[in-house]
Amino acid sequence: MFNCRANEDATLAEKILLVTFMITTISTDILQAEAILRSGGVVAIPTETVYGLAANALDAKAVTSIFEIKERPFFDPLIVHTASLERARAFVDHIPDWAEELFAMFSPGPMTIILKKRSIIPDIVTSGLETVGIRIPNHALTLSLLNNLDFPLSAPSANPFMYVSPTSSEHVNKQLGGKIPYILDGGSCNVGVESTIIAEIDGKPSILRLGGLPIEDIERVIGSISFHKNSLSKPISPGMLESHYSPRKKVILGRPAQGVGENKRIGYIGFEFPVDGIPIHHQRILSSTGALAEAARNVFGALRELDSLDIELIYAELVPELGLGRAINDRLKRAAA
Ligand code: TXA
Ligand code: MG
Repeated sequence: MFNCRANEDATLAEKILLVTFMITTISTDILQAEAILRSGGVVAIPTETVYGLAANALDAKAVTSIFEIKERPFFDPLIVHTASLERARAFVDHIPDWAEELFAMFSPGPMTIILKKRSIIPDIVTSGLETVGIRIPNHALTLSLLNNLDFPLSAPSANPFMYVSPTSSEHVNKQLGGKIPYILDGGSCNVGVESTIIAEIDGKPSILRLGGLPIEDIERVIGSISFHKNSLSKPISPGMLESHYSPRKKVILGRPAQGVGENKRIGYIGFEFPVDGIPIHHQRILSSTGALAEAARNVFGALRELDSLDIELIYAELVPELGLGRAINDRLKRAAA
């Protein structure tokens, strides 16, 4: 069993050994996850969108470990996960009406709302911003975990910075196994792309990141909402980078031209149908019935699988630009950027 007390008292050399040789347990037992989190450790948790790398959001030292394990720059803020809107009220100053309406309608669910933070949330969580992202994830195991803890959990997606987000415990283990003590196994993520992030900009709600809650659903509740494109000079969302979700292989948007597959080893991610001229085991079809929800569940897994094949290039076809398709296309475009 991993012992966090021992970790705290260790010398630098011992810590390096601990980091190198940490055994990662993968299990569905929330009590083990709770014990590690209570002692200031980091645990991977399932959500309906992607797996998160979680620690006590009220403990600056525990939160620092998340940045270190993920190799994430400290300027990129973390969001805070909690079990209910009632609990969230302790962490934020004021919840505008539009946000109340969205929480009432869509929580728990694939949505993060940026609100003015209270000082109980350490500055390291928000990279010094005055705002914090609040998310109530819709996953039974993680909701039980959050309900049992008397603190919220900071959690970015459980992937190394800039890489494709994980949608299964195996994905997490492949990259962070050996670096974290525990992965709470909640199966494959139901939604498959990260939460939609909404913030108030110039007095109006705006979308900062397209995600698992489609714009169309949001607009049905609060009326028309605009999309805020992050500016590089004055970013509202410092971590929202043009290039992200990147496999190591080069990604090119669109279908490969006839004959490309003859001189190059290429892979293909298609929406409904495979293409000719590429071996079928180098192709991933996101949804053979053309269902965007299924495509969203499969897109990150497809990028990861093709990344591990002996190919040079990945071609990826965009999906219809509506509903969840907008988030899928956003991720594919960033993977290609
Ligand atoms: O679905 C999700 O949201 C997943 C699961 C684990 O909950 N989490 C996730 O976290 O995607 P992360 O850190 O990979 O992405 C959160 C994004 C980052 O781009 C970050 O820059 C932005 O949210 N963000 C966090 N706090 C913010 C704030 N106060 N203002 C603006 N953007 C913020
Ligand atoms: Mg992420």
